[in-house]
Amino acid sequence: MYSSDLKTPPQEEDQLFRLLRQLDLAPDAPQRTTAAALNISLGRLNALLRGASDAGYIKVSQRAGPDKRQRFAYEITLKGAAEKMRLTDQFLTRKFAEYDALHAELTGTTSGLEPFKHRTKLMQNNLAPIPELYVSYDSAQKLKVEAAELTSHDLSPRQICDLELLMNGGFNPLKGFLGEDDYNGVVKDMRLADGTLWPMPITLDVSEDFAASIELGQDIALRDQEGVILGTMTVTDRWEPNKALEAEKVFGADDDAHPAVNYLHNTAGKIYLGGPVTGIQQPVHYDFRARRDTPNELRAYFRKMGWRKVVAFQTRNPLHRAHQELTFRAAKEAQANLLIHPVVGMTKPGDVDHFTRVRCYEAVLDKYPSSTTSMSLLNLAMRMAGPREAVWHGLIRANHGCTHFIVGRDHAGPGNNSQGEDFYGPYDAQDLYRANQSEIGCEMVDFKHMVWVAERAQYEAIDEIEDKDNVTILNISGTELRRRLSEGLEIPEWFSFPDVVKELRRTKPPRSQQGFTVFFTGFSGSGKSTIANALMVKLMEMGGRPVTLLDGDIVRKNLSSELGFSKEHRDLNIRRIGYVASEITKNGGIAICAPIAPYATTRRAVREDVEAFGAFVEIHVATSIEECEKRDRKGLYKLAREGKIKEFTGISDPYDVPADPELSVDTINIEVDNCAHQVLLKLESMGLIGAS
Ligand code: PPS
Repeated sequence: MYSSDLKTPPQEEDQLFRLLRQLDLAPDAPQRTTAAALNISLGRLNALLRGASDAGYIKVSQRAGPDKRQRFAYEITLKGAAEKMRLTDQFLTRKFAEYDALHAELTGTTSGLEPFKHRTKLMQNNLAPIPELYVSYDSAQKLKVEAAELTSHDLSPRQICDLELLMNGGFNPLKGFLGEDDYNGVVKDMRLADGTLWPMPITLDVSEDFAASIELGQDIALRDQEGVILGTMTVTDRWEPNKALEAEKVFGADDDAHPAVNYLHNTAGKIYLGGPVTGIQQPVHYDFRARRDTPNELRAYFRKMGWRKVVAFQTRNPLHRAHQELTFRAAKEAQANLLIHPVVGMTKPGDVDHFTRVRCYEAVLDKYPSSTTSMSLLNLAMRMAGPREAVWHGLIRANHGCTHFIVGRDHAGPGNNSQGEDFYGPYDAQDLYRANQSEIGCEMVDFKHMVWVAERAQYEAIDEIEDKDNVTILNISGTELRRRLSEGLEIPEWFSFPDVVKELRRTKPPRSQQGFTVFFTGFSGSGKSTIANALMVKLMEMGGRPVTLLDGDIVRKNLSSELGFSKEHRDLNIRRIGYVASEITKNGGIAICAPIAPYATTRRAVREDVEAFGAFVEIHVATSIEECEKRDRKGLYKLAREGKIKEFTGISDPYDVPADPELSVDTINIEVDNCAHQVLLKLESMGLIGAS
């Protein structure tokens, strides 16, 4: 995938490849051992070492110590690691060609094998190890020191998930973040530049400033959020993507209602960097360590257990009885063992957090026969891309050694678009998967929609029930389940397992006991602070939960004293307010925010932060700009008109009117008390406070 303009004859390249591999495996071995391992003379070894050192592939250093045979230490450099990877690909290409020629000689036909397209297929023996991008432990220790000198990129949470799967082979055959040609192929028709099926752009998005500070060919260190170096990347490509086109092609529409499109436009950096990655260490996870497996660990487990066929179940939701029935059936149909393979990286905003889910899965796992079923957590950042996502999930599962994959109705669906319609048809994912199945290398088991038939007290596939008119068919949708949980209503035993319901109730007590955020937005002088103050007092009078007011002016005095009113600063201000509000909400309190918050995308980001923990109630204080200017309580509008205050919201700076707030209040001719009361009624109707 990544080419080099080095023109070394094949035999020397083979020796160079073997040398780099050997030094990677045993950098501290004496020369004699290395020569023996390579089956060459000491003289030849020295010539090779010199060449590799001159080309910058290895670093030779003097070693102090009594053993004369170990006078030198050899380290593979970043350049050497990248070269080794390139040579591996080249070596395989040649071997494929030789095989093809042999095949033709013996059978008179070509084998039809193409090196990269079928590389995973050749390995299709799902139990054989797959290639990772990690260097050996010894080399990693050395590379880490070398990489500390490099320009660093601090990875976003999503990039950390992507990097983990790149490095551990979960995204095999990718060798790094996509370069421009591969990206264009993937966006346009789901194929890398060499024709390999790959439906999802795995890109390293960065800011314009960072991109400008990098030269092509430069190595950069990839660090996690604590600054730990996870890997390095040789930047071979840098370009500004057409994000609207990416949204259209990959996600089906350039519509911000799609979480990944929203991410693309409002979170991802403007520029993409691409190039091969050298893995130094896995991202650290402190939670559920024993439940996380790399593709090779899972393959080893299947090998050890003698599992020849494995059907994977992908999920981002808690498992209920219907799921159990369906996974049982899928395993029976495929005559395979079952792998529950939930995503714990990033899922859809608003999903049940993975800590709760894993506790739920563990409770359900007891209900499966342990010798036939296993569970492993997958640190994938989902994109909710429906059909393309299903194909991607299948490829990832094939890499994890699975032979079958369950694709359900509306697989990885993102919810409604901005017109209130589904982004994808309910069976689009199954169709696209079926069309690409042979290349995915993981057979589809299509999901049957399971429903409870009360008279027979069992789950049945809806399309197989012949006496539909004579039986009672029951089902509880995700939305209905959330309603019942939030209102503390009964969840019947036929629907879920008591242990699962107990876990869910522990994390999601009834809404009247949860924390929440009331977020006022509107022009300066619209009355936000006045209503917010009145509301705060009323809520405190009711008692039960601590109340915090994050008023625009107060925040700017304390949290954001260094900020001005540019878009960038306003966004930062609102994200800070959102962060504090989400923490308050998480801990069961009530946060009342009252900033101007003029930008819809920033308000949405805050909503997503808060909704991970509780309700977000957006209140538009819809006092018109004319009225605010007429009141001009602080005298700021006059100054803004005179040009003495720049970037003044509504006068010389924009305000996005909320399209879909929970409540809109008009303050003209209405008492503050009444406005605050309207908010209280809204909170009551949402179940957030008990009847007053
Ligand atoms: S923002 O956009 O949400 O970050 O603004 P916010 O922090 O809520 O603004 C707080 C108060 O700052 C005063 N002020 C301005 N407002 C808008 N534009 C400009 N340029 C500006 N300069 C100062 C204004 O009085 C805001 O007060 P409120 O409480 O809204 O009346």
